[in-house]
Amino acid sequence: MTSNINNIQQDQLGQDGPQIGIQGLGCMGMSEFYGEPDEVGSRETLERALELGVNLFDTADMYGLGANEEFLAPFIAANRGGVVIATKFGYSRTPENPDDWSIDNRPEFIRGAVDRSLKRLGVDVIDLYYMHRRDDRVALEDSIGTMSDLVNEGKVKQLGLSAVSANELRAAHAIHPIAAIQSEWSIFTRNIEEEVVPAASELGVTVVPYAPLGRGMLTGKAFAKSLAGDDARRHFPRFSDNNRSTNIALVAEIEAIASARDVTAAQIALAWLYAQSRKLNVKTVPIPGTRKRSRLEENVASTSISLTAQEMAALEPLASAVQGVNV
Ligand SMILES: NC(=O)c1ccc[n+]([C@@H]2O[C@H](COP(=O)([O-])OP(=O)(O)OC[C@H]3O[C@@H](n4cnc5c(N)ncnc54)[C@H](OP(=O)(O)O)[C@@H]3O)[C@@H](O)[C@H]2O)c1
Repeated sequence: MTSNINNIQQDQLGQDGPQIGIQGLGCMGMSEFYGEPDEVGSRETLERALELGVNLFDTADMYGLGANEEFLAPFIAANRGGVVIATKFGYSRTPENPDDWSIDNRPEFIRGAVDRSLKRLGVDVIDLYYMHRRDDRVALEDSIGTMSDLVNEGKVKQLGLSAVSANELRAAHAIHPIAAIQSEWSIFTRNIEEEVVPAASELGVTVVPYAPLGRGMLTGKAFAKSLAGDDARRHFPRFSDNNRSTNIALVAEIEAIASARDVTAAQIALAWLYAQSRKLNVKTVPIPGTRKRSRLEENVASTSISLTAQEMAALEPLASAVQGVNV
């Protein structure tokens, strides 16, 4: 399935954004959380992504405490016209205070954060700027108002929100058009389907599912056995000793469908998202994360897999059987 890859389809980001490939690339694991970084493999992956029409690259100021944005800078500089760069503000953690996971949406924090991101990325303007998490101490008018000012000042082109409710999305959109909402969405995590996805569909907001491979778990049995000692996922409830074996057993259903089609479980997980977003009539651009060129090719090839109604029905019960709260 990876040998005949064509360039992926493009779609418009939000209502007046640029054309983006219908799959983006999550860059977080290139710098932090998921084991030892692989700089050479990651750089090859970035280059191959662009060749295949994957032009939305997802980072955040806190990934690697700024290192992920800095890592992307040379790639962006070499390909500025072709790259749509998305980054995020909101977490307070810095190299000086790496364990400060508090959320800050105050206007003065946002203004400092955007300037630091612009500098680390080496760009004059950020294509898509997300509020990473909502800080409910700050009125939405103030935080979205500040983000809107950044657009007017030319520091940011499009606005996005991450992990907000449908009501927050609607309220923010009324202050300034929101191009994208990024939330976890996969065969195992479907909370946003009830309210957030319908709101995004109605408002013309692109949904950007993060962790579309369940942070790797949906790629198959072999994956969960291979977590290194310092891998952050060891601390997530779905990967705990108590829950992991139940959840991996559920992945067998995905692997069975994959094996009958001679594709991979990762491809079925991504194809499910495309099918589900067509059903729910919402523009969707998943951002699977990988540091490996061959896996990127595999993930991109999923855009041409159409699941049958029978296959979708077999995958339907899995989310409600997953053990462990989502973080
Ligand atoms: N807004 C938010 O709060 C938030 C939260 C989490 C993540 N994100 C964003 O979403 C992106 C994606 O999420 P994620 O990286 O957490 O999870 P994910 O995309 O669900 O899974 C990534 C994991 O799957 C592995 N993988 C990828 N493709 C594979 C394949 N074809 N076969 C086997 N393994 C494969 C990767 O390993 P290798 O690298 O070794 O291939 C990595 O361990 C992140 O990079 C980040 O940009 C946003």
